[in-house]
Amino acid sequence: MTGSEIRQRFLDFFEQRGHKVVHSSPLLPANDPTLLFTNAGMNQFKDVFLGNEKRDYTRAVSSQKCIRAGGKHNDLDEVGKTARHHTFFEMLGNFSFGDYFKEDAIKFAWQFLVDDLGLEVNRLWFSVFEGDEEVGPDDEARELWIKAGAAPDRVLGFGRKDNFWQMGDTGPCGPCSEIHYYMGDDPDDPSKNSPEWVNGPGDTTMEIWNLVFMQYNRIALDEGGFLLEPLPAPSVDTGMGLERITAVMQKVKNNYDTDLLRPLVEFTADRAEIR
Ligand code: ALA
Repeated sequence: MTGSEIRQRFLDFFEQRGHKVVHSSPLLPANDPTLLFTNAGMNQFKDVFLGNEKRDYTRAVSSQKCIRAGGKHNDLDEVGKTARHHTFFEMLGNFSFGDYFKEDAIKFAWQFLVDDLGLEVNRLWFSVFEGDEEVGPDDEARELWIKAGAAPDRVLGFGRKDNFWQMGDTGPCGPCSEIHYYMGDDPDDPSKNSPEWVNGPGDTTMEIWNLVFMQYNRIALDEGGFLLEPLPAPSVDTGMGLERITAVMQKVKNNYDTDLLRPLVEFTADRAEIR
């Protein structure tokens, strides 16, 4: 399957489940002084999550062009060192604005990856927020992954750094649940396809999809510090790296070897030899 076919398959999957297909917004966000570049699919829906804007749909799907080269989500220090980070990438995302919440978000993700794309279940790992002093543990997400079909020992708890997502210092945010994929040659090797590699070193087990359960607006207080205010309605914001899921489907170990990026590398190499 080509990267373009995977993008289309994602859009079609969610369109068939009542989502409005929305075009990628520009890389330079309109009307948002908190962002230099678009860094996630949810940016163009920020005011919808906050309840300041109404649209004529409550479910959306997009493939959003993103740049992560500064600010809260900065991948610049990783580019060139890992096989999976780029400053520019496409984020596949499905969104619910006060419509469905955790149960359907998790069910849809499982159905797309396992039933539709046919990924091997014994290569998948799931992470959930284990809670801290501000927000409690997400036991519900853990139960829902198990209900969807995950083995209990493949659902792991992590803290705020990995499993609480916010767009910037302020704005919509919430606990999140990630899907990680073991890309190694032997899924039966217990020393490699194992929990310590999830959010661990190397690229062999990598995050492919993040499901954010949007529940709060993080606001800055005049006296300093921040406060989490509940959103008008619990919502869903997800993001899957198109280049990463394409690397998985094409069974290559480096995003730059997918059909999305390899031709660009080769074109540039050819031009460099001409000079
Ligand atoms: N907005 C979430 C992210 O960027 C899905 O990971």
